[in-house]
Amino acid sequence: MKQMVQSLWANHCIMTRDREPAAGSFRFVCILVFIVGITIQFSDELESAVDYSNRNLTRVPKDLPPGTKSLNLSQNSIPELQVSDVRYLPELRVLRLSHNRIQTLDFGVFKFSPDLEYLDVSHNQLRNISGCPAVSLKHLDLSFNNFVLLPVYKGFGDLTHLSFLGLSATKFRQLDLLPIAHLHLNYLLLDLVGYQVKDGENESLEVLNTNTFHLVFHPSSLFSVQVNITVNALGCLQLSNIKLNDGNCQRLITFLSELTRGPTLFNLTLHHVETTWKCFVELLQFLRPRPVEYLNIYNLTIIESINHENFIYSKTTLKALTIEHVTNQVFIFVKEALYSVFADMNITMLTLSRTPFIHMICPQSPSTFTFLNFTQNVFTDSIFHNCSTLRRLETLILQKNSLKNLFKVSLMTKNMVSLETLDVSLNSLDSHAYEETCSWAESILVLNLSSNVLTDSVFRCLPPKVKVLDLHNNRIMSIPKDITYLQALQELNVAFNSLVDLPGCGAFGSLSVLVIEHNSVSHPSVDFFQSCQKIRSLAAGNNPFRCTCELREFIKNIGHVSGEVVEGWPDSYRCDSPESAKGTPLQDFHMSPLSCDTVLLIVTVGATLLVLAAIVAFLWLYFDLPWYLRMMCQWTQTRHRARNVPEEELQRKLQFHAFVSYSERDSTWVKNELLPNLEKDGIRVCLHERNFIPGKSIVENIIHSIEKSYKSIFVLSPHFIQSEWCHYELYFAHHNLFHEGSDNLILILLEPIPQDNIPSRYHKLRALMTQRTYLEWPAEKSKHGLFWANLRASFSTKLILVSEEDVGT
Ligand SMILES: *[C@@H]1O[C@H](CO)[C@@H](O)[C@H](O)[C@H]1NC(C)=O
Repeated sequence: MKQMVQSLWANHCIMTRDREPAAGSFRFVCILVFIVGITIQFSDELESAVDYSNRNLTRVPKDLPPGTKSLNLSQNSIPELQVSDVRYLPELRVLRLSHNRIQTLDFGVFKFSPDLEYLDVSHNQLRNISGCPAVSLKHLDLSFNNFVLLPVYKGFGDLTHLSFLGLSATKFRQLDLLPIAHLHLNYLLLDLVGYQVKDGENESLEVLNTNTFHLVFHPSSLFSVQVNITVNALGCLQLSNIKLNDGNCQRLITFLSELTRGPTLFNLTLHHVETTWKCFVELLQFLRPRPVEYLNIYNLTIIESINHENFIYSKTTLKALTIEHVTNQVFIFVKEALYSVFADMNITMLTLSRTPFIHMICPQSPSTFTFLNFTQNVFTDSIFHNCSTLRRLETLILQKNSLKNLFKVSLMTKNMVSLETLDVSLNSLDSHAYEETCSWAESILVLNLSSNVLTDSVFRCLPPKVKVLDLHNNRIMSIPKDITYLQALQELNVAFNSLVDLPGCGAFGSLSVLVIEHNSVSHPSVDFFQSCQKIRSLAAGNNPFRCTCELREFIKNIGHVSGEVVEGWPDSYRCDSPESAKGTPLQDFHMSPLSCDTVLLIVTVGATLLVLAAIVAFLWLYFDLPWYLRMMCQWTQTRHRARNVPEEELQRKLQFHAFVSYSERDSTWVKNELLPNLEKDGIRVCLHERNFIPGKSIVENIIHSIEKSYKSIFVLSPHFIQSEWCHYELYFAHHNLFHEGSDNLILILLEPIPQDNIPSRYHKLRALMTQRTYLEWPAEKSKHGLFWANLRASFSTKLILVSEEDVGT
């Protein structure tokens, strides 16, 4: 609790310093240094921190790592600390032993820990301490123990680094703190929980130098302390646990008289105060002429009754009164009695927050308030209705109250001619289209309307010169096009609404910061970046982006300005649809230009087809593709046929693979081209001039040759047609063909024969020619290979031939 109280206090001091830069800056620098010191110390601790808190330990564990720098043993049942407990922790800096059962402590146990800076033995049962505390100590907490007299003796005088000291005692003698009188403490905590009134004895105590003095009284006893404490150069005074009624009110005032006399007292903070309204007003009245500038009361409970008390608004140095967390146990009272005391305070800053108060009345005369903070009360729309005395008010915070009507809120500000900042966030404000136009104070620059139930029409009810507008977490679906122009608007926060698009900057000529996270923006307009030239910061993450072609331009633009301008880029920007792209960061989302541009697509496909067609045509013409195709076709057919040739056909006693019939005039080609190419592959060829048997008639020879050959090759040319013999040969071969039932005829067209030139008697040749079942000798050399392959394919290599001799015998 104490630590929390300390940090609360520290925060407060920083806050007040921000608002009052001129006052007491030296003091605050000291405090800041103190806080920074603690922070550094804490971050150091993390390195080798050992936490054994709340483990029901009855002694210090023996197996601690020797490098331990920070050891937490609080909330255990350790009854004592011995040398051997910390003997092997030479690097120990922080030791927390609060909430144990230690009764005596000898500082000598730390003689092997020369760096000990932080020692907390508060909330134990210490009655005695002895030995010299380590001079390195900065923080020593001995508070909430059973000391009768203050445990401060001569050895403490050497603690020149000491910044925090916590003590407890039930009895005081004026010079108890003399041994440390020369130290400059930052914080002195004194617990008076065990204090009891002593009849007739008026104790006194001189605390010499401390910046902050914190006194803790018994939490449930009526305030009864009668010690006359004086402190030099006190800056902050804090009192915790004050229970007052009308009877002991004067006792507290007497107690404070001496303490609050110093001219340096700047800040008075009271924690956990229970009081009657009468005593409370008396206390305020007493403090009014005192030098205190900041009075803070946290956790105030009002008991018994609230009646009208006479309050004299005398001259005061008080600047700010802060009352947070009020419990009111009085249910029936005249509201003026309570509220008028605050309303006419005539100070500059008033904070009343977390109270059950439902109202605040308008000050009677022109008020000095510049800052009013009414966070988390139950104020309604009637607050400051028709109030014209708050003409100096600059900041009004009505966060988390029960405001409902935006129009009435605007009306409230009408006479607050200095109002610059208005915070009405976390109410139930809606913006139903009201009959009248809203009448905001023209001076408003910052307006916080976040976390209400405002809809699109809020844009018709806004202060004309507003620069910063917070509308996050409302119910806005779109920003109407015909809104009043907010030319001064620089920062607009519309996060957590239901907007489907980014607003253009047409109506917000000065917009430089836009927050539109967590909306329903799926395909933001491309022209946002064009229209909003002054944008410095855009936060548009966590929207359900639809990753289609339309989004490409936006991604391109956002990519160009990303970095400092786009907040949360790239992590918070992800595709939500289509399903296939869900979760993909926008940064990694790419679509080819082709799939997004129909014209481009058509042009590309057309061009590709055209090029293909050109290539085909070129190949057709240049390489005579039809010839190749025909050859390929024939070749495959022949291969097929050759495979299907019946066995007995092959078994026939053949002597030659091929008989070649040709005109004498084509003999050069036959001998130079055909023969070498066939015989190269072992094909045996029968030529009439080579293999005709002498003595036999020509016709006999022809028939013999054809019958002894597996196939007959005819070399067709215009010469062939003119040769009579050739005609015979063709006839016999054809004859053979018909009688044997196999097609063993191969026609090679060496030179084209015009159809008309074939004499009519060669009807067979004509028929074969029209069927185009001939092989055409290509003129180009490059085609010869395929020609020969095609020809050779006609001959089955499996054929078994008999030699001429065998036949002859
Ligand atoms: C508006 O108020 C909310 C809390 O209610 C706060 O979080 C936010 O920062 C405030 N906006 C501005 C611009 O101060």
